[in-house]
Amino acid sequence: MKERLQELQTEALAKVTESSTLSDLQDIRVAYLGKKGPITEVLRGMGKLSPEERPVIGELANKVREAIANELDSKKAKLEAEELEKKLEKETIDVTLPGRPVQVGGPHLLTSIVEEIEDLFIGMGFEIREGPEVETDYYNFEALNLPKGHPARDMQDSFYITEELLMRTHTSPVQARTMGQFNGSQPVKMICPGKVYRRDTDDATHSHQFTQVEGLYVDKDVRMSDLKGVLNRFAKQMFGEDREIRLRPSFFPFTEPSVEMDISCKVCNGEGCSVCKGTGWIEILGGGMVHPRVLEMAGYDPKEYSGFAFGMGPERIAMLKYGVDDIRHFYTNDVRFLKQYHKA
Ligand code: DAH
Repeated sequence: MKERLQELQTEALAKVTESSTLSDLQDIRVAYLGKKGPITEVLRGMGKLSPEERPVIGELANKVREAIANELDSKKAKLEAEELEKKLEKETIDVTLPGRPVQVGGPHLLTSIVEEIEDLFIGMGFEIREGPEVETDYYNFEALNLPKGHPARDMQDSFYITEELLMRTHTSPVQARTMGQFNGSQPVKMICPGKVYRRDTDDATHSHQFTQVEGLYVDKDVRMSDLKGVLNRFAKQMFGEDREIRLRPSFFPFTEPSVEMDISCKVCNGEGCSVCKGTGWIEILGGGMVHPRVLEMAGYDPKEYSGFAFGMGPERIAMLKYGVDDIRHFYTNDVRFLKQYHKA
């Protein structure tokens, strides 16, 4: 039995030395030290031994087992260390390689233009207001002096949701909402940027959804000259101090009198060219003095209060300012287009 144990030890240790993987080691451990292994078997046969021999063989068996286990452990540690070494070598990072460039985004051109408009009017004491895109017929039309059946409603083909609800066709309802909220109790000086919707066929200059910025200033003794002064400042700051403005008579149901504002063409300096269609002027926005009916409906006494209002399209402003030739560029979001307007 002694010899058998020593043989097993020699045999096992030789196998450990030969082994080269962790799974080999596990196999050896199971084969020699497992419950069904030869050492366990030897121990089971100890009953046949004389009482003197028993402790001697027992001790030897334990020693053999310990020797094999120790050898397995130290080989395991060695293999693990080698494996880790290999892994580290494989995963070494070359810190001298150039890094991958990180793509940095930027605000959309429309966002930048709207923010520029906002900053400009905040600088003149206007506050920013918002209103719902799903609007009632009342605020979108009636409160702006466009009763049901009014022919001017056709100027703005609408997406109706129900008889009384529609996608707002302009940001002008926010005028009526803001005034209505104060109900004649205080002056109002606000602009409202936002999305608007019209049943238009999309082409280079039309989009079924676009952006507007509405402006409203209601106070005691607000005059047309105030409108002209504010719009003149806006035009010069947005398009350049050398731009001139002119107001032309026009018609909107919610203003009386109504005007359209042009700026002198930058391309030809007012001489007339293809951009301004030979007129030397480019139309920018509509506005006028708030109609007394509109003031009245919102709770403002037109004998006490007067006001001006205007509405503009940031897409059109961006197109003129940056020479964008198709309104659809704002919505198709081709990064090659958008990237040109990211400020560094
Ligand atoms: N709401 C008009 C439109 O969408 C634009 C406009 C014109 C707004 C004159 C105004 C205004 O506030 O006074 O065509």
